[in-house]
Amino acid sequence: MKKFFILALLSLFGIADAAYLTYEHYQQVTPPCTVNHLLPIASDCGKVLRSSYSVMFGIPLAVFGIIQYSFLLLVIILLAVYRKKIFAYWVILQSMIGAIFSLYFMYIQIGILKSICTYCTLSALISFVIFFLVAKFFFREKASLRLNIIAFFYQNIMKPVLFLLDPEFIHNIMVARGELIGKTFIKHILNWKLNYSSPKLKQKIAGINFSGPVGLAAGFDYEARLTQALYSLGFGFQTVGTITSLPYEGNPYPRLGRLPKSRSLMVNKGFKNPGAENITQKLNKLNFNIPLGISIGGSNNENIENINQAIEDVKQSFRLFEKSKIKNSYYELNISCPNLINTNIDFYKPKNLNQLLQSIKRLKLKKPVFIKMPISITDKEFISLLAVIEKFKFVKGVIIGNLLKDRKNKLLDQQEVKKFKVGNFSGKPCEPRSNELIKLTFRKYGSRLVIIGCGGIFNGQDAYKKITLGASLVQLITGMIYQGPQVISQINMELEELLKKDGYYNIREAIGIDNNK
Ligand SMILES: Cc1cc2nc3c(=O)[nH]c(=O)nc-3n(C[C@H](O)[C@H](O)[C@H](O)COP(=O)(O)O)c2cc1C
Repeated sequence: MKKFFILALLSLFGIADAAYLTYEHYQQVTPPCTVNHLLPIASDCGKVLRSSYSVMFGIPLAVFGIIQYSFLLLVIILLAVYRKKIFAYWVILQSMIGAIFSLYFMYIQIGILKSICTYCTLSALISFVIFFLVAKFFFREKASLRLNIIAFFYQNIMKPVLFLLDPEFIHNIMVARGELIGKTFIKHILNWKLNYSSPKLKQKIAGINFSGPVGLAAGFDYEARLTQALYSLGFGFQTVGTITSLPYEGNPYPRLGRLPKSRSLMVNKGFKNPGAENITQKLNKLNFNIPLGISIGGSNNENIENINQAIEDVKQSFRLFEKSKIKNSYYELNISCPNLINTNIDFYKPKNLNQLLQSIKRLKLKKPVFIKMPISITDKEFISLLAVIEKFKFVKGVIIGNLLKDRKNKLLDQQEVKKFKVGNFSGKPCEPRSNELIKLTFRKYGSRLVIIGCGGIFNGQDAYKKITLGASLVQLITGMIYQGPQVISQINMELEELLKKDGYYNIREAIGIDNNK
């Protein structure tokens, strides 16, 4: 309440000052004001108040001052009474307008008239103090307003234009911009203006400090070009890859498509990546502000003909990464890519997965491993994979999950699906199955396996749903493409609000609380 009182008092001072100047204007008298021409800038109220700049559209500026401060006072009272975000936004904008005009009027006095009017300067000072206090008192609301403005521009201006162009072309441009940002000071500006994180969202999991619960999922940064920039968007961790031991230039086109009505993407990349050797060289010189997940999968190569070769291929990547000692990182073992066209070997069968994990176990990996799970399998099949995974202590958790294979899924608009003969689907259609499997896994293995929820997260509510069902962390890609790069910070902010609403101090307390409902 104290902050409202201080701001209201300052606004009242502003009204009094402007009202006095208005009165003097209409009385045609110059207020008592020391005339001092000895200073480099003269103090001369008469010169300022009689100048042509003191009137706009025939109305004295002081009247605008009264209006400005009165509005401010009104909104401060409304905010104090109703505590609505809209009034906080209004106070922020009104205080900004006041500060900008005050800056302009000070420039006219100092730069053009070379004289200062004490009363006008006092009004400007009040405006500046209000502006700084509002920024301090309503830091959160200011950040939220900024993020909402960016979201508005992205969703209504930028996205409609970007969505007219080829998705892979846009992806390449965005990654190139992101890489450049990561190499310049711009990342610090973005971090300052765009990154919203909170101590309440921090967690230490498997010995790794996650600065926030929202990570970038595998598949967006498969060439490891964004690792220096992503923290500035509010990500708490990031994934590179999926990387395979052998490089792969990607499946034939189309590799990526948009399904806006379904809020989904068609994905048919088949592990396009430059290979483990290339990526290790790139990463081992770098430091990372947020933990780095290294997603490893089997090479999409026709020469891999049997399970033993497939296992050796995956192990080769692990060996390379383990040798390169990449800092602040963990592994994601991807057993669930649905669009590998050159190999028939998969690790969905519990027997194959068991053989793979037995073999990886012998590598005595130093970093924790999380397994990226398929979602287009039955509960029974999923549980039998978990039963295998659970036995291996080096596996700390599971990521639930990968893309949706079912083209007939009711959340996919069938007209949109028809446009693509190949591929699997991300985004909203993945969400219900991902949530079901998180729930199932938490019930059966919640005390043994950490769950990273992934699939269809577009806002804070979506992320919170996965957390309350049992996920400790979440990942996304499609939500960022549809909502904009500010969405990560918006999710962080929303999660903080949801935790507060439910009476939790830290995100850890909310994990799995809805699982019994
Ligand atoms: C363009 C694209 C490429 C992907 N490539 C990979 C990949 O290489 N490895 C992987 O584990 N998952 C990959 N995925 C799946 C995502 O990591 C994620 O599991 C899935 O998209 C669901 O999350 P979302 O709805 O937030 O996008 C990819 C997804 C997209 C959209």
